[in-house]
Amino acid sequence: MQVDRSLITALIDAAMSADYTGVRRIGTNIAKLMAEQKDLEGAKALQTLLRKRGVPLQASGYAEALPRDAGSRLPLIEEGQWPTTPVMLSGEAEQTVSQLVEDAKNIHLLTEKGVSSQLHMLLYGPPGTGKTLLASSIAAMLQRPFYVARLDSLISSRLGETAKNIRGIFEFVPARNAVLFLDEMDAIAKLRDDRHELGELKRVVNTVLQGLDSLPNDVVTIGATNHPHLLDPAIWRRFPYKVEFELPNEDVRASLWLHFLYQDDQTRLDDAHLLARASDGLSGADIENIALAVRRRAVLGHQEPSLAQILMAVQLSRAGSPQLLKNRELDTAEKKSLSLFLHDQGRVRPGDIAEIVGVSRQMVYRYLKEAGHG
Ligand SMILES: Nc1ncnc2c1ncn2[C@@H]1O[C@H](COP(=O)(O)OP(=O)(O)O)[C@@H](O)[C@H]1O
Ligand SMILES: [Mg+2]
Repeated sequence: MQVDRSLITALIDAAMSADYTGVRRIGTNIAKLMAEQKDLEGAKALQTLLRKRGVPLQASGYAEALPRDAGSRLPLIEEGQWPTTPVMLSGEAEQTVSQLVEDAKNIHLLTEKGVSSQLHMLLYGPPGTGKTLLASSIAAMLQRPFYVARLDSLISSRLGETAKNIRGIFEFVPARNAVLFLDEMDAIAKLRDDRHELGELKRVVNTVLQGLDSLPNDVVTIGATNHPHLLDPAIWRRFPYKVEFELPNEDVRASLWLHFLYQDDQTRLDDAHLLARASDGLSGADIENIALAVRRRAVLGHQEPSLAQILMAVQLSRAGSPQLLKNRELDTAEKKSLSLFLHDQGRVRPGDIAEIVGVSRQMVYRYLKEAGHG
């Protein structure tokens, strides 16, 4: 390959600044050039390297620059990875996200015209619904490094130390063209307990407000909380973009099953929809957990788990506690219980239930009748 001086200079500059985002971007361009010049093997080797996780910041030249807790010496902020899986959102959430991304990309124009607002977005809703995943996806969409600060880990028992930690975060980030993710925002409210001096909660809330206000308006800040009602109203108002997360609806659940269980094989769409109907009330993280358990059995066992076994695990799962697969065929009581479940929750016809569960159609009618559904 011909040596391109500007690319190599840029690559070395990025490497010396421990700027993984830059290394990945320039590396991707070099791989493209290689492919154009028919060096397909070289391009492939480079792409494999680019998929590697970078060494964590602690081990790179940034170590001294990372703000740390004075007591524990633990870093207050970490660089997170760009995700490798897509995030499935409802239509409304998707609109807010694309607005934020568009505004972030055009922030200089918006500022010049005097119509910019701070790029602060709040994600709130139950655990396991994709808030952290969405935050990292936004960093990837904007090709910016992703800095994660968990507010619960910034809370110190030493008087005044919590506010100092929070200031450390806001002072560290603006210098770097980054996405700042403030996870577990509601943790601040814990300062209300009596281990802390009266007035500390107020001081810490003020520090967060000042920190948010002080950020240059091209910094994207994403806050997340599972308990929005614990959030101080003044903090709530500092986030012009808000996305409410709910447990996934049937369509989103079908996409999640198709992706995590069937690896986006479109020929499995019917099964994915059946699983979606059966899994009302489960989160994306629950569905991912069950799907991975099934695939582990398929890899390690002798045969792929049956749809009935998977549906049984789904039936026994509750939000936040997904059930693993039983490594055996269903017994009679389970067949009956699953048949009723498929009839009531899955809206499946008796003929199809018979086929899935592995009993005769007459037996399905008998189950339904015994349960008063006849
Ligand atoms: N809406 C979703 N789309 C895609 N994957 C999801 C979704 N919700 C959850 N997941 C899966 O569950 C994992 C955990 O979700 P996470 O983003 O940590 O949830 P939260 O931050 O809301 O608690 C994700 O990494 C992803 O694999
Ligand atoms: Mg999270």
